[in-house]
Amino acid sequence: MELREFLSFLRTHGLLREVEEPLSPYLEMARFIAAHQEEVLLFKNVPGYEGEVVSGLCAKRELMAMALGVQPQALIPILVKAMQNPVTPPIVENPPCQEVVEEKVDLTKLPILKHLAEDGGPYVTAGVAIIKDPDYGRNASFHRLMLLDEKRFVARVVEGRGTHTAWSKVSGDLEIAVAIGLPVHILIAASMSPPKGVDELSIANALAPTPLARCLAKDLEVPACAEIVLEGRLTKKLAPEGPFIDLTQTWDYVREQPILEVDLVTHRKRPIYHALLPGGAEHRLLMGIPREPTIFSAVNEVAECLDVRVTPGGMCWLHAVVKIRKRGPEDGLRAIEAAFKGHPSLKHVVIVDEDVDIDRLEEVEWAIATRFQADRGLVVLRDQPGSSLDPSAKHTPGRKTLTAKMGIDATVPWGAKAEDFKRIRW
Ligand SMILES: Cc1cc2nc3c(=O)[nH]c(=O)nc-3n(C[C@H](O)[C@H](O)[C@H](O)COP(=O)(O)O)c2cc1C
Repeated sequence: MELREFLSFLRTHGLLREVEEPLSPYLEMARFIAAHQEEVLLFKNVPGYEGEVVSGLCAKRELMAMALGVQPQALIPILVKAMQNPVTPPIVENPPCQEVVEEKVDLTKLPILKHLAEDGGPYVTAGVAIIKDPDYGRNASFHRLMLLDEKRFVARVVEGRGTHTAWSKVSGDLEIAVAIGLPVHILIAASMSPPKGVDELSIANALAPTPLARCLAKDLEVPACAEIVLEGRLTKKLAPEGPFIDLTQTWDYVREQPILEVDLVTHRKRPIYHALLPGGAEHRLLMGIPREPTIFSAVNEVAECLDVRVTPGGMCWLHAVVKIRKRGPEDGLRAIEAAFKGHPSLKHVVIVDEDVDIDRLEEVEWAIATRFQADRGLVVLRDQPGSSLDPSAKHTPGRKTLTAKMGIDATVPWGAKAEDFKRIRW
């Protein structure tokens, strides 16, 4: 469902909060979004901006499912299917994203939020960057962008990922297009990390029709329905990026990162700018939900996996719960190992049996309390590749972050009497 169509749908169902108050993108909007994190907000009167600002499109699992036209429990299967069967999108002429062409670039006209006074600058947080890798082809991924001036950002480009690999191998600038104001299915696809050579926009197109438009100034294609497109170059010039509060709601390190120069802006009439609150519910779910299918598929190769949840206390990124139907004595431990393969940034995982409701963390803790013994069900791994977002991990500039990992097998011990472990529910 296109963004505007989804907003109409939400409005009809009373699920859209339309904010008439003229809140400033400088600190005020972020504060408002933080206070209404699980709601879809549409800021109608943004001082100095002709369009509107949306936030919270993916702030609840139910919203994502609604946008994809499925029940929440069908999210994992539909994402697994799309990841395994990408479909090349068609290219269309006269796309909505090019209704207005702005050759004189002035990024300060966009309602780019400054979230906290201590931030390094205003930040684009829901921009999907599209590049072409000389060997692997098209790649779409999120990159936060800190505004430097009317024409330039400094981009956070995580080492070893799609954009970084392509940027490192070209000798000059890397052409880049940043699409802002996208439908939920494209946001979800862009936050996946498929194997190199698999195009996230083809995964998006497998989820829902995703026609593309040719950029006007670059040899790139972008979603035709995008509200705003910034066509530019990721240069070899570097600048300090940050400070910035990231997913874990802790300050990320300030690093020298590439400068993105924008050469052309195209947009729809009265464009809807998407603002995603860093470390908020929408950020957590967008990062985490695309990892549930990859954990599911990896665990399913070694045991019968029934369900997976990335959990909010672990920012939907560092913690997961995996539900299995145990068929052998080693299944719990094998599931732990596989879960870490399915999501390499995962730090702690709990494996539970099919009778545990993994949407209720109190039940997961109950399983740990009653079924787990640390001297036989605990897996501790040292010096593993970990998440750059975890402040307690070992960070060495230019090298992969290292972390310890822990898996808890909270399944009923193999061969035990089932009745001894059954929860009697009042
Ligand atoms: C909301 C959100 C923000 C993100 N911000 C960044 C970022 O600033 N830099 C980055 O390299 N990856 C970021 N990511 C991760 C990328 O979207 C993507 O998952 C990653 O680059 C891996 O994909 P790739 O290897 O195909 O490029 C973010 C993801 C989400 C969902």
